[in-house]
Amino acid sequence: MIRVRVPGDKSISHRALLFATLAGDASSLRGLGDGADVRTTVSLVGRLGADVAVDVSGAGRGLDARVEPATLRAPRSTLECGNSGTTARLGVGLLAGLGLEALMDGDESLRARPMGRVMYPLQAMGARIDYLGSPERLPVELHGRASGSLRPLRHRTRVASAQVKSAILLAGLAGRVHVEVVEPVQSRDHSERLLSAMGAPIRVRPGERGHEVRFDPAGWDGRLRGLDLDIPGDPSSAAFLIAAAVLRKVSIALDGVSDNPTRTAFLDVLSAMGVEVERIPAGDAGGEPIASWVIRPPSRLAPFRVAGPMLPRLIDELPVLAALAARAGGVSEIRDAAELRVKESDRLESLVTNLRALGVSVEDHAAGMSIHGTSAPLAGTVLARGDHRIAMAFGMLGAGPDARISIDDPGCASISFPGFWSELERIRS
Ligand code: S3P
Repeated sequence: MIRVRVPGDKSISHRALLFATLAGDASSLRGLGDGADVRTTVSLVGRLGADVAVDVSGAGRGLDARVEPATLRAPRSTLECGNSGTTARLGVGLLAGLGLEALMDGDESLRARPMGRVMYPLQAMGARIDYLGSPERLPVELHGRASGSLRPLRHRTRVASAQVKSAILLAGLAGRVHVEVVEPVQSRDHSERLLSAMGAPIRVRPGERGHEVRFDPAGWDGRLRGLDLDIPGDPSSAAFLIAAAVLRKVSIALDGVSDNPTRTAFLDVLSAMGVEVERIPAGDAGGEPIASWVIRPPSRLAPFRVAGPMLPRLIDELPVLAALAARAGGVSEIRDAAELRVKESDRLESLVTNLRALGVSVEDHAAGMSIHGTSAPLAGTVLARGDHRIAMAFGMLGAGPDARISIDDPGCASISFPGFWSELERIRS
């Protein structure tokens, strides 16, 4: 049995930092993810005047931050969001809510990703946002407005996106205005859990016509409590190490991982593949369930099928599942995954091209793929396209038997998981 550590959850880290800037008292955040994306959010809140002190020495796991109450102000120069979609989308919600003037930009990958899905609802609330490059893409300019002048909003999203939902909640919270978001199926719910734990009036109502989340400030004293939080381990980072251990046929244990059901559907897929998954509850943090996981590999991996409403609950794990499918005993199916086209790369295309380059037989569909598992040797060079999850998915496959896989840009794993290659090496050896 091998024990591994994973960084603090990236989604929770971004949110904890952003929400803490609006709290009425200090927050202590321990074990934030130390990848480039979370550092981008640290830098963004600092540029907005948040009083944030970060201990990068990594006394424990990841970054520790203390956020003291401060009044946020317009940044003096462009907010560079790098590769981080969560920083940009949640950040724009916060800025719109506060009515702050700002320019926001991202790297080449982020500039190619859709922003209209966040900007339209914010514009419907009265935010003035101009696209400075291509329509519905970064860079954008936000115009200042009096705080408290946004209109209430009820918004039905076309796709389940936690970033869109959270941007609207942040605009409502920072602008003290009623907002409701209805998603076709529930996306990850970290914002709802954290904000409720901080005392914000958040209501969640699952329904047949969609999953509804509401922030209603009527009758609320407006006080957001600070957070005192050990950030749970990142299930998405864990997935790469678990899959590598499954291929190496070693049992693996992880402690302190977020066991949030909106994030863990990949464990159900692993179970369907024959992997033994034990989840031992270990309390909660910031409204998030925490667990230790013990994973035992099967002698033979069965293929899987993923489709429909479960997709948002494993969207970031599809690259690693697709790579694992290359070693299953049969044909695995991924359907209804069009959202993968607008991630850090077009992940459907990245997966199909790279799997084929290694000798795996794959059929591509408009919104998915069929992957023919094989025990033949796999060899070749993977083009990660700067996409951390593509690099780590194929790194994982390369750590399995009969594989000689090189990755053109292994360094991009540090977007979410700087220690990935050394943890992978421990599993391989
Ligand atoms: C995230 C939401 C998901 C996910 C991304 C992180 C978040 O994106 O893919 O890695 O922290 O809210 P969408 O909201 O675009 O689905």
